Amino acid sequence: MILITGGAGYIGSHTVINLLNQGYKIAVFDNLSTGHIETIDTLKDIGDIKFIQGDLCNIKDLENLFCNYDIQAVIHFAAFSLVEESCINPKKYYINNVMGTLNLLNTMLKYDVKKIVFSSTCATYGVPKILPLDENHPQNPINPYGNTKLTIERILKDYDKAYELKSIILRYFNVAGCDSLIRIGEWHVPETHLIPNILKSVTEKDKVFKIFGTDYDTKDGTCVRDYVNVEDLAEAHRLALEYLFKSNKSDIFNIGTENGNTVKEVFDICKEITNTNIKVEETQRRAGDPPSLYANAKKAKEILGWNPKKTLYDSIKTAWLWEKILFNNISKEEI
Ligand code: UFG
Repeated sequence: MILITGGAGYIGSHTVINLLNQGYKIAVFDNLSTGHIETIDTLKDIGDIKFIQGDLCNIKDLENLFCNYDIQAVIHFAAFSLVEESCINPKKYYINNVMGTLNLLNTMLKYDVKKIVFSSTCATYGVPKILPLDENHPQNPINPYGNTKLTIERILKDYDKAYELKSIILRYFNVAGCDSLIRIGEWHVPETHLIPNILKSVTEKDKVFKIFGTDYDTKDGTCVRDYVNVEDLAEAHRLALEYLFKSNKSDIFNIGTENGNTVKEVFDICKEITNTNIKVEETQRRAGDPPSLYANAKKAKEILGWNPKKTLYDSIKTAWLWEKILFNNISKEEI
């Protein structure tokens, strides 16, 4: 059985579907602080998953989990991931992300589970010195969120050396879109991410989409990001897991499309897909935003055999369908 922490969240739940499609048995562990019970209900309709509500900061919850289920490997998503919030409340991030992960790793060791796929982030690189970013780029995070993920990467390296706990670290770039059958999707409260925020400016009457900064040194002055489709990202996790089983070797991979798109380009695609003249306002920069981030993902393609298939257009199309279903009570038949 594969344990998926944070399986009620955005990327975790899409990975659950991917693994279910391949016949894996899944246990989802989630405290539902940012994930949703409705997502779990949908996953239960799709396949045979066990859901355990529990918290990584509660050792008893972890003990019960590892005692009751025969776990071969872990895919670890559970974490807080808002950069801005992490600057205001770093304690919340260090306790949940770092301490929670340490509890998880120590329980894994106790129960002799020695394989983990870990969700890291391009935020561990900080402001790029060279683009595209490859895995050897120096890591100098510029916010507490990135610091927590880098700390965990270092713990994993030490745990491999000392205890032979093997890990695949996936450093992902920006994630977009949803399940092709629109059963689950991106659902953050509050929503801070670019694509859902643009789409909400279509569905929410008085919402005006704000562009954070138009004076960056990029082709149109707005920030450049690499938007990887969530189903392609979920596939990367499955491939990472299978590589870990096969090789029993720790490694690190960037997961991105290798294409950068500006905020204005994303906005234009949203306008086209929604066929709406979306209200927009140009405002000042948001703190902590690097001007440009996009991946060199050759290593994942060569070693894991990862082959991302979906374009940004595909991602925004599914995100728009999901937005209409989730927040506007429109049934799948009506869209
Ligand atoms: N943006 C806007 N308006 C909005 C929301 C976002 O202009 O309403 C801009 C941001 O300033 C940024 C870009 O759109 O330039 C993307 O912003 P997101 O909030 O969607 O994503 P981030 O790049 O800030 O964050 C993502 C992940 C983090 C991860 C980070 C790594 O959500 O978890 O990438 O840089 F740490």
